Amino acid sequence: MADIKKIAVLTSGGDAPGMNAAIRSVVRTAVYNNIEVMGIKHGYNGLIQGQFISMNARSVSNILSVGGTILKTSRSLEFMKPEGRTKAFKNLKKHNIDCLIVIGGNGSFTGAIVLQKEHDINIIGIPGTIDNDINGSDYTVGCSTALDTALDAIDKIRDTVNSMERIYVIEVMGREEPFLALRVALAGGAEDVIFPQTEYDIDKMCDDMRAGHKRGKLSWIIVVAEGVATAHDVSKRIHDNTGFEVRPLVLGHIQRGGGPNAVDRILASQMGKMAVEAAIRGEKNKMVGIESHKEVLTTFEKAIKKDKTRTMLNDNVYKLTKILSV
Ligand code: F6P
Repeated sequence: MADIKKIAVLTSGGDAPGMNAAIRSVVRTAVYNNIEVMGIKHGYNGLIQGQFISMNARSVSNILSVGGTILKTSRSLEFMKPEGRTKAFKNLKKHNIDCLIVIGGNGSFTGAIVLQKEHDINIIGIPGTIDNDINGSDYTVGCSTALDTALDAIDKIRDTVNSMERIYVIEVMGREEPFLALRVALAGGAEDVIFPQTEYDIDKMCDDMRAGHKRGKLSWIIVVAEGVATAHDVSKRIHDNTGFEVRPLVLGHIQRGGGPNAVDRILASQMGKMAVEAAIRGEKNKMVGIESHKEVLTTFEKAIKKDKTRTMLNDNVYKLTKILSV
């Protein structure tokens, strides 16, 4: 057991539904264990600027169902520089913080690794990102709600797709990880997906569409994972090739918004508690996660690594989408 008297919590990187539920769980688990807790506003930027606030059980009332993050968040350029990290460390020391809990994704954990290498500070991570691109947890906080949100949009677009017998190309977020694009395509009954790690062939896709038209299949939804191609570009190429009416749509930051669903509220609540308990045990440089229903800890280094299993799972989801779109 470590002698933990005071912890701090921040959210960093892109906001994700369920971050508030995670903050609430961290704060209340700390209070339950007689540990003082401070919130840091605006992620690593606020850590550098000393934006610390005292928190208690009541400071996190009524936030369980609210989207975004009450602590605000940022992508900090200053934290990428050693001088910025030194300022951040000094502020942690000034406030006598024994452990920092970081709720965020890849970039946030990369920052945590560097801070810990340069300075003597314990950090515990909670994976909070819609991208689900982290090893060491089956799901990250936010990805389930983001999937629901994207699916809701696709279901609505499907009404126009069917009624007007058009082709829609829908661009879905997810950085380099096609988790969201592939799952929403399967759940939304899309006809095809363009995503990283596979070759895509627009000419073949257009041949399929022409053949589909002959069979009476006149409505198509193509999902595009951001970063591989843009919805506008793909739409234009399909239209130029086939002459069919094609409309592009970018779902964008809508996917990050809204209150967390039940899955994310539960996951965030579990992970917040796990993070504080890991801090109490003296764990450091690790992320909490849930894999196959088991609570696990993973080093930040392993958490942010590219993973082959994920690529295999993605391929299987893609194959299923294609089979079901026959
Ligand atoms: O990591 C979450 C995410 O929404 C990604 O899916 C996306 O690529 C990125 O953040 C967008 O970042 P920003 O909000 O800075 O535009």
